[in-house]
Amino acid sequence: MTILDGKKVSNDIKNEIAAEVQKIKDKGEKVPHLAAIIVGNDGASLTYVGSKVKACERVGFESTLVQMSNTTSEVELLEKIKELNENPEIDGFIVQLPLPPQINEQKVLLAVNPDKDVDGFHPTNFGKMALDMSTFIPATPFGILELLDRYGVETKGKHTVVIGRSHIVGRPMSILMGRKGFPGNSTVTLTHSHTKNITQITSQADIIISALGVPNFLKAEMVKDDVVVVDVGITRVTDETKPRGYRIVGDVDFANVSQKASYITPVPGGVGPMTIAMLLKNTLLARERHNNI
Ligand code: GUN
Repeated sequence: MTILDGKKVSNDIKNEIAAEVQKIKDKGEKVPHLAAIIVGNDGASLTYVGSKVKACERVGFESTLVQMSNTTSEVELLEKIKELNENPEIDGFIVQLPLPPQINEQKVLLAVNPDKDVDGFHPTNFGKMALDMSTFIPATPFGILELLDRYGVETKGKHTVVIGRSHIVGRPMSILMGRKGFPGNSTVTLTHSHTKNITQITSQADIIISALGVPNFLKAEMVKDDVVVVDVGITRVTDETKPRGYRIVGDVDFANVSQKASYITPVPGGVGPMTIAMLLKNTLLARERHNNI
């Protein structure tokens, strides 16, 4: 069994990006600049956005954090997005999800300039992804592809089962694994809350990508020997023995499933750090688009 070590790989990628930034600086050019908007004070979202900003510093990017209150109106958020769209200093930006209920998420995603949409959530970019055109691939799916690629995990002709159909992970992942190329060329089954007898499906999978958000959902009895398992779950579970009062638990019963798996991602230290590294990679790409490089 091999651990797909997202912590290590994401560090390698950050080092590669930092070297690119150094080259940009040596040429006397402006370094990439990522902005993030966060609305409200959800603890997990604040942590994720904080990590994104910290990662920018680590590789030498400029970063801007825009914090807006929980009572922000849709109009106010759209105005801020317009400002970032028009600001020539900003190469790319994200609006952290979820948003408070008074704000329509679809309207917000549509308002982001597709050339600055480093999350790849705008329908233009999502459509390009589905049509094999060059675009921003959403950071978590992009990170999973990169992890499979760097460990040389064979995906061609394999049966990939994706659990969960969220717009951020499950849906794009199901498209990407079936695309022509590597990693891809899989036969994909997308499962969700209405799927019947999921064990029958997961037990036939060569590769399982679980993005459900239910702690320890995937058990050893649900998988076959030598399965490749990618765990995207990051649920906070109360744990008074931890300094923060919680621990992060994945979708996979790691202790038992890892006994049968050929490759498996840990939680934490698997997909999570890869997401941030690929957001930085998309920002580098956004800078190139911005400057027509
Ligand atoms: N919320 C959870 N994951 C993500 C992500 O990748 N991007 C944004 N913008 N919000 C998220």
